[in-house]
Amino acid sequence: MAVEMLANRNVLIVGATGGIGSETTRLIKNGQANVFITGRDTKKLSQIAKANNIPEEQAFSLDITNAQAVEALADTIHSQIGHLDILINAAGAGYLNPLEKTEADMFSQLIDVNLKGAFHLMRYFLPPMKEAKKGLVINIPGVLGKAPMAGAAAYSASKYGLNGMVKSIREELKRTEVRLTNLYLGGVDSDFWDNIDMRVNRDKFINAKEAGRAVWFLCQQPASGVVSEMVIQPFNHQVI
Ligand SMILES: NC(=O)c1ccc[n+]([C@@H]2O[C@H](COP(=O)([O-])OP(=O)(O)OC[C@H]3O[C@@H](n4cnc5c(N)ncnc54)[C@H](OP(=O)(O)O)[C@@H]3O)[C@@H](O)[C@H]2O)c1
Repeated sequence: MAVEMLANRNVLIVGATGGIGSETTRLIKNGQANVFITGRDTKKLSQIAKANNIPEEQAFSLDITNAQAVEALADTIHSQIGHLDILINAAGAGYLNPLEKTEADMFSQLIDVNLKGAFHLMRYFLPPMKEAKKGLVINIPGVLGKAPMAGAAAYSASKYGLNGMVKSIREELKRTEVRLTNLYLGGVDSDFWDNIDMRVNRDKFINAKEAGRAVWFLCQQPASGVVSEMVIQPFNHQVI
């Protein structure tokens, strides 16, 4: 059943080099989907392509803050397959610090990756789905996209923005069967936390494998309805 859902589906996983993205890639590829992946770290990207038997020509180096690069990738993929069945945006940047330590440059960087990057992806990959009147787009605003936390002003600004943007786009797609899902994850143990200067107990976090499994689960859902959101949090940090 699970395999049938994904067999021959055209799936793009953006941020496949990350903790959640790489686990998602493995599961989706096992489901016999036709998988395209992106990342910025080209070495990691080819390792992931190789490990999952994804042809090199379906693994793309991409910085999602570069609108022209996103548009060019969309053209390349659409010229091969028409439209994607599933777009998974697992790319993002983290930063958690009190307001007085948050510089404007860092604020802009988070907005550029987490919000404008997601905008570019949907701007260029959604129209063919809209025309076909079907498809699935999964974004990961995380719980800080709808609940506050001390030290999260800049990160939450980008993720609340993503949340609002997806909900507004959903209004534009109501006459289609394009499904937009927001996945609200609490802390996931991945490289995301390596450069975050905050005392956290990563042992108690959701593990990246389980987070990848949640994305895979969303991709298994039948197209007769839409999972508009899903929330998964560590037991010891339930903010929603
Ligand atoms: N980990 C958590 O606790 C948690 C909780 C809730 C939500 N989330 C969200 O889940 C998503 C994935 O997080 P993760 O835990 O897997 O983080 P991660 O392991 O740090 O991976 C981040 C991914 O984003 C990519 N990326 C970063 N900046 C990019 C850019 N400018 N252009 C293209 N790709 C870029 C990275 O690519 P390269 O490595 O190739 O540069 C990497 O593939 C993010 O949106 C994050 O905000 C994470």
